[in-house]
Amino acid sequence: MAACSYKGTMLDVSQAIAAPAHDTVGPISRHDYRPPAWLVPDTRLVFALDAAATRVTATLSVTRNGEHGEPLRLHGAGQEPLAVRVDGVAVNDWRIEGEQLVVPLTGATHSVETEVVIAPERNTQLMGLYASGGNLCTQCEAEGFRRITYFPDRPDVLSRYRVRLEADKVRYPVLLANGDPVDAGDMPGESGGRHWAEWDDPFPKPSYLFALVAGDLAVNRGTFTTASGRTVALGIWVRATDIEKTHHALHALKLSMAWDERVYGREYDLDVFNVVAVDDFNFGAMENKGLNIFNSRYILADPDTATDYDYDGIAAVVAHEYFHNWSGNRITCRDWFQLSLKEGFTVYRDQGFSADQGSAAVKRIEDVRGLRAAQFPEDAGPLAHPVRPESYLEISNFYTATIYNKGAELIRMIATILGPQGFRAGTDLYFDRFDGTAATCEDFVACMEDASGRDLAQFRLWYSQAGTPRVAASLAHEAGEGRATLRLAQHVPGTPGQPDKQPMVLPLKIKLFGGETGRALGEEQLVLLDQAASTIVFDGITERPVLSINRGFSAPVIIESDRSAAELGFLSAHDDDPFARYEAMQQLMLDTLVAAVIEGDGDHAAVVTAVANTLADRALDPAFVAEAVLLPSESFVGDQLALVDPDAIHRAREALRRDLGMRLADQWRDAYEQAPTGPYVYSPAAKGHRRLRSVALSYIAASGAADAATIAFRQFEAADNMTDRQGALNTLANGYADEREAALDIFYNRYAGNGLVIDKWFQTQALSSRDDTGRLVAELARHPDFTLANPNRARSLIGAYGANQRAFNAADGSGYRFLADQLIALDKLNPQTAAKLLPPLGRWRRFDEKRSALMRAELQRIVATPGLSRDLFEQASKSLA
Ligand code: ARG
Ligand code: ZN
Repeated sequence: MAACSYKGTMLDVSQAIAAPAHDTVGPISRHDYRPPAWLVPDTRLVFALDAAATRVTATLSVTRNGEHGEPLRLHGAGQEPLAVRVDGVAVNDWRIEGEQLVVPLTGATHSVETEVVIAPERNTQLMGLYASGGNLCTQCEAEGFRRITYFPDRPDVLSRYRVRLEADKVRYPVLLANGDPVDAGDMPGESGGRHWAEWDDPFPKPSYLFALVAGDLAVNRGTFTTASGRTVALGIWVRATDIEKTHHALHALKLSMAWDERVYGREYDLDVFNVVAVDDFNFGAMENKGLNIFNSRYILADPDTATDYDYDGIAAVVAHEYFHNWSGNRITCRDWFQLSLKEGFTVYRDQGFSADQGSAAVKRIEDVRGLRAAQFPEDAGPLAHPVRPESYLEISNFYTATIYNKGAELIRMIATILGPQGFRAGTDLYFDRFDGTAATCEDFVACMEDASGRDLAQFRLWYSQAGTPRVAASLAHEAGEGRATLRLAQHVPGTPGQPDKQPMVLPLKIKLFGGETGRALGEEQLVLLDQAASTIVFDGITERPVLSINRGFSAPVIIESDRSAAELGFLSAHDDDPFARYEAMQQLMLDTLVAAVIEGDGDHAAVVTAVANTLADRALDPAFVAEAVLLPSESFVGDQLALVDPDAIHRAREALRRDLGMRLADQWRDAYEQAPTGPYVYSPAAKGHRRLRSVALSYIAASGAADAATIAFRQFEAADNMTDRQGALNTLANGYADEREAALDIFYNRYAGNGLVIDKWFQTQALSSRDDTGRLVAELARHPDFTLANPNRARSLIGAYGANQRAFNAADGSGYRFLADQLIALDKLNPQTAAKLLPPLGRWRRFDEKRSALMRAELQRIVATPGLSRDLFEQASKSLA
């Protein structure tokens, strides 16, 4: 590390800042945690805002934390101190060490003031203070605050913030920050045209929750009255032309506030709650205290531009960020290794909220599908890490499906083990015991134990061991004895740095059904498998039993059972747990596809029968049917195989799709035609009908029916909503009909200038199953609307292409080269977003030698790129190891 103790020349300082990031900071380890040497009870910030040059004056009241002689260490990145004052007097005995400003202090408490100038309009990383669509906004989690001012930028330093914003009144009429507004006014005299506003946040918070927004924004206002009678002023802030697209988000916010009171006993605590939508954002949204900032895709919706899926996502993310007010803000994380403390728990909470808004079964299916698409591959690949990681180079790389989604599964398992009352007692205790502090995952688990009396000692392995457990399950029946014997054995595969694993606690919900009568043979049982192997005996079983296991996906594991196609087909029709029904169908489809890939030809009969039965079952919710009849994705099929042959998988899956389409042609037509249409409403029932209709359309097209493109195009043209329009467009985009080009053009022209919808236009093409998708994607990357500067746009093309297993893994390596080229270019602008898109290249171990060598060559090319960010370096180098 280039320590620079001499501040006289600016050059030394800026060289230290400009050095390649991945050389300047080594790995951070969980075990190196030390409490902060200095605390900052109060922070006063003054922003003289300007897109080109914003002056930030920070006054920190600091107190020595215990007896020690350590200097004050403030983080800062991409800036230099223009002045440092201690107790009002300019000092010059400070020094810069890497990303730290080190200030020697003699007393127990001081006031330390710094001044910096930063350039939001040149901030392409979108961390810290940046410009988006002419407005100014911030993103601080995890370590963006240090790009705004010097501060102990770590989550265990909680401070009370008072913030003054000054800005041009015409360009930035709206000035928002955390907490409650204090006062506002025009700036006097010579600074003509400028105004100011002051905000005060009474709740001590870590710097990552700081936020400000300055801009020309319109607001959709609402109010919410809390259980104890406090009236909260709600505001959703967007550009004026988007105001009609904010009703759904505002409604979801009110529902979330009521839900958290009802389900967790949590009330909101400030007088205002503001939400701002911005177009340029590195991820979904951010829970800044009293001032959430959102990617506009998780706020803006109307039927013409947003799909049902978008509507659901908006409600889920609005709820997620709102719920963070307690699980994240009132109680935050001691250090970033504890990230899942707030993220896993908050995802679990938002999943519960969404489940309560419509079909809980369909929500569970969607969540498990998401877990399998993103988290299982992560856990099985080079970037596998525990829910509580041990070390990192760049914390931004740890906002992963493991921290979020597997983390949520851990909380769900605790809730399952404790039962609803025990779990609620545990969360009450947690919120009570740790309110106003920075806590750890261990603290959370200890509350669950203390409140319930359950011992979770072994359960803690879920936090420290990476990898998806595999459970072998086999059921034997001795008819003469009236006995069934279930043998279970678990195995947790080795992961990077963790070759050997201990057996975990796996809560498995189990039920047996009679293979002849279809009736339940006893109640559902919760089996806690905590040994490497175990045997469970069921008595009084005279009828041949069929095993339903991991019902509701009670444990995030892979079940390896020896159930036959007949048994899976039986469960898909008779199980009384909708998730288990779905699961049986998925397993049947997977077995069929894997066999087809390996043997080159498949027996589709069992799948065809099961799908036919599901389509014919009038008692089922159409939304469930739509999920149940969908084939597993090509990548999920690939995840089942030691060696992924993307072309063979594609052929096998297309063959099954075609067969299903042809053999059930009448049923698909019925499902398509009988789905009630009528004017658009957003309701669980209407969503289900739309979903089933689009799935049916995709099977009609898969059958090769001559009129498929005509039907799709008719749906595309007649649609009064984006769900139907995009459903039809997806089907057309997968095919070769003339209607495809026409629909894409109509869609593009109709929505020109609407960024979120144009993202869909890119994404649909990049996900296409056509043979020439690789070439089309390369062309689209040269389209005038394509830009790497906007993360949504970058993801819509590059991210979608990386998820398209067959297209991306073209045998000539063109997909790999394309991705590497794009990532190297994007890294210069936005390292975080670049690093997020890298994982498809890390799957090389699973591919044939030729592909594997091509992938590694691209990873090596990335790693060898001069000036690479710490973010991309960490992901690429770990992917090579
Ligand atoms: N806390 C935010 C959320 O989950 C996300 C922050 C992501 N930060 C990052 N550096 N990737 O709601
Ligand atoms: Zn979150």
